[in-house]
Formats: sequence, structure tokens, C-alpha cells
Amino acid sequence: MIIKKSGPLKGSVTVPGDKSISHRAIMLGSLAQGKTEVDHFLLGDDCLSTITCFRKLSIPIELDANNRRVTIHGKGLDGLLPPKDILDVGNSGTTIRLLSGILSGQKFKSTITGDASIRQRPMGRILTPLRQMGADIESVNSNGCAPLKINTSNNIKTEDKNLRRKANGLKATHYNSPVASAQVKSSILLAGLYADGETKVTEPFVSRNHTELMLSEFGGQVTVSDNTVSIQPRPRLTSRKVTIPGDISSAAYFIVAALIVANSELLIKNVGINPTRDGILHVCHMMGADIRLENIKNDGGERSADILVKHSNLKGIEISGSIIPSLIDEIPIIAVLSCFAEGKTVIKDAEELKVKESNRIEVMVNNLTNMGADITATEDGMIINGGRPLHGADIDSKLDHRIAMSFAVAGLAADGETNILDPECVAVSYPDFFEDLLGKSKL
Ligand code: S3P
Repeated sequence: MIIKKSGPLKGSVTVPGDKSISHRAIMLGSLAQGKTEVDHFLLGDDCLSTITCFRKLSIPIELDANNRRVTIHGKGLDGLLPPKDILDVGNSGTTIRLLSGILSGQKFKSTITGDASIRQRPMGRILTPLRQMGADIESVNSNGCAPLKINTSNNIKTEDKNLRRKANGLKATHYNSPVASAQVKSSILLAGLYADGETKVTEPFVSRNHTELMLSEFGGQVTVSDNTVSIQPRPRLTSRKVTIPGDISSAAYFIVAALIVANSELLIKNVGINPTRDGILHVCHMMGADIRLENIKNDGGERSADILVKHSNLKGIEISGSIIPSLIDEIPIIAVLSCFAEGKTVIKDAEELKVKESNRIEVMVNNLTNMGADITATEDGMIINGGRPLHGADIDSKLDHRIAMSFAVAGLAADGETNILDPECVAVSYPDFFEDLLGKSKL
């Protein structure tokens, strides 16, 4: 995919539904009793993998692709049936980690795997807490990665006979997670639905809270205190209508494009601005960006807004600590943004980037260096001296959707041609990305 220097981005764009919320809608809709209708569902490959897995667990799910609507005929907490073959999550880390929590609570055995990238990503982070809850879950190749095999477990310690009969073998735990990861937290909370008492997770910094919000909306009993979330077992989850806001992680590419391409003024409509996800907006403001939120709404605890972005002169800043989980997926595009900010930007405390779909520290630093940026990798992030003009280059996306999209945006503000290799990898989170981006930018 060749990207050329762009004229101003004008008008408005609507980005696809939030990926994290789309996954959770399928999962909780399946575990709830009754019909859950989901609007503005993300038709990306990752979320389609979640649908495929739950269909294999015998949940009827209808997909109306034209209207981006999904209807799930949930069967309640004990409604999943043994899958006939291996569950394949494709490229989706969220699917494998959250689904493993659910499968750990079932009375049947299952095996779950994914593509080459998934089979290299760390699963020890969920194996440890799920085993602490009594789950019999193992890495088939004993390397802490997928495939994962889940056997039925039987570790009930409770005195409560009723709970013992109902619970599928998991014991309540309080897990102190060493990483701020919503995938880890959510995996434990979903397993906690099948435990013999209250399950708690404490994380070093608060990660995205979509699981907590949606569980509460469906009738789960969730309490949050600082960095700790608790869940009561065996709620009766009831179906409801879910309308998914646009994904701020997808909106981020348009925010940055409008900020770095001269004379741009772009309205990005109906974007989720959940405070555990809106770190990119804070970073832009700290850098001096002209960004305004309009038309703010709240649906099911999830806030959304239209975001008006104007091209701005930016300055470098430090990004570290508790803000990192709220922008973890946006760091590649923030690295691009930093190249257009005067002075130094330092990104710290982001070692998690090394275990995403690619090693995003290494891949960003290599590709931005090839485009002429002054950027250095550190152990837990990167340092960028902004203000140097970028020029086009061949970009190896490493089949990572967020790398491909970040460099497409960089290409709009770089001299010459930028050639994105394997551009089709954007399909996991934003299948129409190039059409939307190039439609907005006058090449
Ligand atoms: C996600 C959580 C984040 C994020 C991923 C989606 C989720 O991962 O990077 O794209 O939906 O829970 P971690 O929780 O592992 O940081």
C-alpha cells in the first residue's frame, strides 16, 4: 500500500465499534439468559473470531453485517456445550485470555489456540491466577504459550453446599496482578463467575474497565475500590441491548493525522471516551493540541463524544506511570505524533509493548528511524527528539495492525512515498481503514 504526502483532512469520519467492548458483548451475551442485541459491532477479524468460538460452544449468534448488528441467543452461565474441535482465536489476545477464564469454569474439557503470533504471546499471566483458582489449565507445549488445554477442575473448598453443587470447581481468590492488564483482570473476573465465593483482582494501575461496566449492566455484582475489583459468583446475567461506541484506538489514527497534516480540521463522530481509555486525549492536550469534545453521551456506563481536531503546533512531553494502561494501544501512533512535536518526548513504563501483536518498541523504532526520525529504544519505552522532517520508506508492519495504521498516518505527513508491507493486517481491528483514511486525505 503506497501512501503519499497529503493535503488537509477535512469533514467528518465515523470509526468502527470498540474492539474491547465488541468482544465482551459476545461473551456476556452468551452467558446471559435471553436475546442480546448488539449495535455498531466491530466486524474486524478479532471479534469475528470471538463469534466463531462461541458458536462452537453452541451459542446461536446471528450476524447482520450490513447493519453491523449481532444478535446473541444466550443460554445462561451453564449454557455452553463442549466444542467438537479446537477453539481458534486467530490473532486475538483478548479472545484467548478472556475465554480461558470462562472455559476454566466449565464442566467440559477444551483446547484453545490461535495464529503464529498468538502462539508466541505470554499466557503464563493468566495460567498463574487461573491455577490459583483451582483451574486445571496447561500450555500444551509447556512453553507458557498457546495452545492451552483446559480440563475440568474440582477444588471447591466452600462449606456452602449450595455453592459447592453449583460451582464448577473454581475457588475464590484475591489475585495481586504484577501487570496492569485488562485481559488478565477480565480473565479472572469471568472465571470468578464460577467460583465458590468473592473473587478479587488488584492491579498496579487501573486498566480498561469494560468488563466491570458490562458485567454490572448485565446484572453481575461488581465492586471497585481503587485498583481492586471484586465479583460475586453465580449472578443471573440478563440480556440487554448494547450499543457500542466508536473505538478510540481507531479514532487515534485520525486524531493524529489531523494534528500533523497542515490545515486539517476533522470531526471524528461518536468515539468512546471511557476514562480508562482516553490517555491519548490527555497526551494530545499536554502537547498543546487543539482538540474539543462535543455531544458527550453516556450509555451503559460507557461515555462517548464527537472529537473535533485541528492541525496544531505541538511540543514534546514525558508519558509514564498510571496513564500508560489508558493509552497502551495508542503508543505506536503517539510515537508518530511525537516526531511532529518540537523537543523531546520520553515514553516510559511501557514494557508491555514488547508482548503485543509485535514487539512494538523495536518495530516502531526501526521503521521510524528508516523514515528519518531521531528515536531511541529504551528498556521500557522510547525517546523521540521531534521536529525532524520524515521521508517515505518501506515499512515492515510485522503483520501488526497498529503498526500498519500508524505508518499510513506517518506517510501522510512525510515527503515522498511510504510503502506499507502486508497492509491487509489492519482487518483485525479496522477492515476499511485505508478507504476511510485515504477518503479523508486529498492525495
Ligand atoms: C485489551 C486489553 C489490552 C489491549 C488489547 C485489548 C482488552 O491488553 O492492549 O488490545 O480488550 O482487554 P492488556 O490487557 O494485555 O494490556
